[in-house]
Amino acid sequence: MARERLERVLRDARREGANGIASRAYYRALFLLRGVDFGRADLPTDPAGLPGLEHAYFHRATGLHHLRRLVEAIPAPDREPVLNGTFVDLGCGKGRALHAAHVIGFRRIVGVELVGAFAATARRNMEALGVSGAEIIDGNAAEFSFPGDTRLVFMFNPFRDAVMRQVAANLARVPVRPVYVGYSFAVHLPALTAMLPDLEEVWHDPESESRVLRLPAAT
Ligand SMILES: C[S@@+](CC[C@H](N)C(=O)[O-])C[C@H]1O[C@@H](n2cnc3c(N)ncnc32)[C@H](O)[C@@H]1O
Repeated sequence: MARERLERVLRDARREGANGIASRAYYRALFLLRGVDFGRADLPTDPAGLPGLEHAYFHRATGLHHLRRLVEAIPAPDREPVLNGTFVDLGCGKGRALHAAHVIGFRRIVGVELVGAFAATARRNMEALGVSGAEIIDGNAAEFSFPGDTRLVFMFNPFRDAVMRQVAANLARVPVRPVYVGYSFAVHLPALTAMLPDLEEVWHDPESESRVLRLPAAT
C-alpha cells in the first residue's frame, strides 16, 4: 500500500513538477487544519428536477498552480485589465478555483454551480479561508448572464455540448473585449468554437488539454 502511494507520488511529480506537489500538500493541510473540503465528488444520481444535470460532469478541483499558469498565459498587456475585471467560474463546484482566483488577485470573483450541495460547500470553504468577496450563484451555467465587465471565464470540463452552446451564445453578448476563456480538459472545445468563430487560441497545454482563448476586440 505504502509502495503504491509512493509510486503515485512519483507519477504526479513527473507530470506536475514541484509546483503540483506543493499544491497538493497545501490543500491537504487546508483540509486537516481548516476543515476545507475540495475533494472529488460524484453528481446526484437522479437528474429529475435539476435541468442540466444530464449534461454535467462530476466534481474535481483545480489547483492554484494550474490557474496561475492559465493567467500567466494571458499576454502581458491584457493581464492587468483582466485582473481588474470579473473572473467567472462556470461550474465552480466546491470553490477551489474561486479561492485560487482570490489568491491570484482578481478584483471580482463569481462562481455558478448547478449542484446545491457543492455550492453550499463552496460557501463554507470560502468562509473558512477568509475569502469574503466571492459570489456563489446556485444555477445552470446555460442561463447565466455574464456581468458586463467579465474578463476571464474559467471552466474545468464542467458540461457537455448542449450547455456549452448556450454558454457561448451568452458569452457573445459580453460588451467588453477582449474576453478570455480558460478551459481545462477542453473536451467540448468544438462546440464552443463553432458558436464563436472569432475565438483565438492564445495558449495550449497538451499535457492537461488546457487552453486559453480570446474573444478579440471588434475590428
Ligand atoms: C470538474 S468540476 C470543476 C470545479 C471547479 N470549477 C474547479 O475547477 O475547482 C465541474 C463542476 O461543474 C458543475 N456543473 C456541471 N454542469 C453545470 C451547469 N450546467 N451549470 C453549473 N454548474 C455545472 C458540476 O456540478 C461540477 O461541480
